[in-house]
Amino acid sequence: MKLLNFVCLAAVVLASTACKKSVLVGEAAEISIGEFASLSGATASFGQASHNGTLMAVEELNAAGGILGKRIRLTTEDDQSRAGEAATVVRKMISREKIVALLGEVASSRSLEAAPICQQAKVPMISPASTNPKVTEVGDYIFRICFIDPFQGTVLGKYALFKGWKKVAILTDVKQDYSVGLSQFFKAYFGQNGGIVAVEQSYSSGDKDFKAQLTAIKATQPDAILASGYYTESGLIARQARELEISVPLLGGDGWDSPSLIEVAGKAMEGCVFSNHFSVEDTSPVIQEFLKKYRSRFKSEPDAMSALGYDSVMILADAIKRAGTTEGPALREALAATKDFPGITGITTLDAARNATKSAVILKISDGKFRYLETVAP
Ligand code: PHE
Repeated sequence: MKLLNFVCLAAVVLASTACKKSVLVGEAAEISIGEFASLSGATASFGQASHNGTLMAVEELNAAGGILGKRIRLTTEDDQSRAGEAATVVRKMISREKIVALLGEVASSRSLEAAPICQQAKVPMISPASTNPKVTEVGDYIFRICFIDPFQGTVLGKYALFKGWKKVAILTDVKQDYSVGLSQFFKAYFGQNGGIVAVEQSYSSGDKDFKAQLTAIKATQPDAILASGYYTESGLIARQARELEISVPLLGGDGWDSPSLIEVAGKAMEGCVFSNHFSVEDTSPVIQEFLKKYRSRFKSEPDAMSALGYDSVMILADAIKRAGTTEGPALREALAATKDFPGITGITTLDAARNATKSAVILKISDGKFRYLETVAP
């Protein structure tokens, strides 16, 4: 009897210490989330805007008690807009910070660099804004919460045809998967629906002189020019086009979305048009409320990346809540099951390929402002 009591007591003591240990080892006091973004360098405005949105969402969640009763700790690394750097900082965060998920990147090429590392480590990665289809094709741990470029290219192609621009020249940044893809998807839709591609020209990120390409484009007398790259080069392209007395409109994608586009281009972008994820002129209460909070927090205007950065955190938080854990495979399952999540950038449902289907907006540059023209549903 005595021995049995002792055994029972010992078992209870053992069990409770084992239990305590597993609490200490298995459960962190915080939920650690990583973010990688171009806070500096050639596309700094992308990283800064998405970071602000991300930060604002984390602050709001923490003010409301965190997720699963835990505070969120956000670790942000700057990849400096440099090739190779996204892989380096993501590797570092996965090995040192014990992060449960990674948010990033905006630019497709940098998301493509980081995705295989996240996939291999089974750490879910959510790109807020990378639109190239290849990003989520890397594997089942890679998600995005925005539309993809086969859609965006179609939206631009439809718009060009609707405007009666029958002959369009294409200028592509061959160093960016985003630009290469967008040009290709535009061409596919436009070409198959009666449009003529006048000429295709290319350049590399960081180039400053586009006169040779623009001279070749001018010779074909196009009705418009698709400049599918990012804002800095596109702004310079617009300026140099006007210097060469090319007066036709330029057409672009979400990569134009930066206040710097106008700083670089000045008046050269007047009347030009681009597709995007979000418009500050949208009068819906959800967007107006977001604008108010963002302006008071950062004293600046949000753009598409701010809204997508914010939504990426909220969608992750929703998945963690539904999973009831931050453990990789369970969190992956919950993310993949994201359905009808109401965000700033619309309702997000992730499909079997872990992409979102959302509307695009068309914006027109007028008096240096991005004015809302229309919404194009998928
Ligand atoms: N879609 C762009 C890419 O894939 C990034 C981007 C998103 C830029 C949203 C501006 C606004 O590289």
